[in-house]
Amino acid sequence: MEFAIDDGKETMKIIGILQARISSSRLPGKVLKPILGRPMLERQLERLARVTRIDKLIVATSDDKSDDALAALCQSLGITAFRGSLDDVLDRFYRAALMHDPVHVVRLTGDCPLCDPKLIDEMIQFYLEGNFDYLSNALEPTYPDGLDVEIFRFSALKTAWKEAGLVSEREHVTPFLYKHREKFNVGSYKGKIDLSRFRWTVDEAEDLELVQKIYETLYPRNPAFTTADILSLLEEKSEWNTFNMKFERNEGYKKSVREDSMTACTTMERSMSVQARARSRIPGMTQLLSKRPDQFSLGVWPGYFSRAKGAEVWDLDDNRYLDMSIGGIGANVLGYADPDVDAAVMSAVRSGNSSSLNCPEDVELAELLCEIHPWADKVRYARTGGESMTVAVRIARAHTGRDKVAFCGYHGWHDWYLAANVGSENALGEHLLAGLDPAGVPKCLAGTSLPFRYNRIDELEKIVSAHGLELAAIVMEPIRNDPPLPGFLESVRAIASEIGAVFIIDEISAGFRMNTGGAHLMLGVSPDIAVFSKALGNGYPIGAIIGRAAVMDSAQSTFISSTYWTERIGPAAAIATIRKHMAVDAGKHLMKVGSSIQEGWKRLAAKQGLPIHVGGIPPLSHYSFDGTDGTVFKALFVQMMLERGFLASTSFYSMYTHTEDHVQRYLQAVDEVFGEIVKAKETKSVGRLLRGQPASSGFKRLI
Ligand SMILES: Cc1ncc(COP(=O)(O)O)c(C=O)c1O
Repeated sequence: MEFAIDDGKETMKIIGILQARISSSRLPGKVLKPILGRPMLERQLERLARVTRIDKLIVATSDDKSDDALAALCQSLGITAFRGSLDDVLDRFYRAALMHDPVHVVRLTGDCPLCDPKLIDEMIQFYLEGNFDYLSNALEPTYPDGLDVEIFRFSALKTAWKEAGLVSEREHVTPFLYKHREKFNVGSYKGKIDLSRFRWTVDEAEDLELVQKIYETLYPRNPAFTTADILSLLEEKSEWNTFNMKFERNEGYKKSVREDSMTACTTMERSMSVQARARSRIPGMTQLLSKRPDQFSLGVWPGYFSRAKGAEVWDLDDNRYLDMSIGGIGANVLGYADPDVDAAVMSAVRSGNSSSLNCPEDVELAELLCEIHPWADKVRYARTGGESMTVAVRIARAHTGRDKVAFCGYHGWHDWYLAANVGSENALGEHLLAGLDPAGVPKCLAGTSLPFRYNRIDELEKIVSAHGLELAAIVMEPIRNDPPLPGFLESVRAIASEIGAVFIIDEISAGFRMNTGGAHLMLGVSPDIAVFSKALGNGYPIGAIIGRAAVMDSAQSTFISSTYWTERIGPAAAIATIRKHMAVDAGKHLMKVGSSIQEGWKRLAAKQGLPIHVGGIPPLSHYSFDGTDGTVFKALFVQMMLERGFLASTSFYSMYTHTEDHVQRYLQAVDEVFGEIVKAKETKSVGRLLRGQPASSGFKRLI
């Protein structure tokens, strides 16, 4: 192995990076503490020089002044010392590796002066043969604490560097790799006998004392003393084993995992003050009912965010939450600030987002959507869900020359839809949102939109027998709360064809959840038009109306046109979202995560004796508390989950960035909170515990 002064970028296969800093919290300056008269770090480097499979070894330390002495030591030994962030060790590590463009990285830490070069070589061999992305002997420890080795692909490190957001993930470099087994091929290296009871790492003064004793005894006999030599010595001196055994393995990592969830809810001053300002300046506070704080619990729900990444959100007071709620109300199907979608958007921004000419992404996206949905021939765009549905209904009306629409489910705020509530008490009450007031919708639209319920073909038949040849369209979601009864969707299709109405499937919420594309593809039904938005752009505004040529061409017989439907970000984001969704089979992951949540809710509610009702397709899951106190329990649930570092309510929309670990942590918290709610119910202390308002149900005016 070569020890070379760093002189710029060079390519190599395997780099060893030893991370070290002087400012250790438990034993400050430990890496420079003497062992047989030389700094501890030098002793470790001396042993590492016997590793044969590493092409180059470097030290990654911080650029903090406190590490000047460490850098000077490396220089005196002729070893490259890369200097980077003190706290964001993942960033430091990644940048250190990047300088040398390796294929594989061996991670070592500067608290292991008894490291075993033979073990490192064996593990490299095992890692290469097993074609792993990440290999560690610490996941299922069988080696003494202090012989830890991790080996991983540089490409995996780069992914972690781009995507990891938790404090623990940034501070400890590799948790993102071994926690994301859906992304990485993770391997565990185990010894034949379990030696994990031995503690040879140096974190405390007692640890150093033990290591000094070992060196003093073995080094003079053989400077290259082995693990076997240490074990036989400790068999002889069994009393040495006990005095550092009181310390816990991996205490540093455990501490920062605790910090991950302790950051939430320290204060909410800024969030609350912006909410107060919003109430006075923005009627209804927000632009979307589902993001109004009163839908959760007014007074405790943070309402506003400063940043979001992966599955996490930071509020205005820098409280960090794991978002196990509505995933940007279904928009962020791949998670927040997805690096690939963002890269496509940034490239669109750099190329100019808008000009006097159109963007070719419009055409590429149209071709992609028609490829995924072979029954469709043509595509138009809008930017939001509701307006895309309005375009679809306009096309259907233009195509048929008819006015009326039979519909099932929620489809937005536009006049064609709210018309259902004109002159009717609450026709929309059964369709997702109760209490929608049609004030401002022309009264002459009364009777133009006619609701039927999902799986109630009899209700549609009744509408058809009264209005059949006046119907321009039959509009519905393919699936939402319940699966379709056998023959239901086929019957709707047949009725639409029979009466010459356009069959419009609204995929705004259901699309890109269970599969890449519309849910109707899985359900085996072909509409005349399908409409997408939300997940299509992973948070960037885009809506697409796709359909059969004969129907879509009617868009030319009417006027459908808008300036911002021509900008580039929306289609660029959609293309990147679809391609990634397909490449990673996001639908499979969203289904798996959603199913675990639904199963967890049911199991934990039964365990705690809390009656709830669970519904929805797994990626769009929800539950409700049985009984009349539902809105109060919902607010208490929201509040208690916030206290534990989760954005959570009675809906859960899965995102690709939700991991098994997130689900476990969340369900652990749900278990506690369900238990607390039952206790509060029994002791009649719900009102006393509630800090915010009970959750609102349906649409209500804000005072
Ligand atoms: C099925 C369905 N259609 C239409 C809409 C309206 O979309 P947007 O809020 O983007 O206008 C929604 C929104 O929740 C929806 O779920």
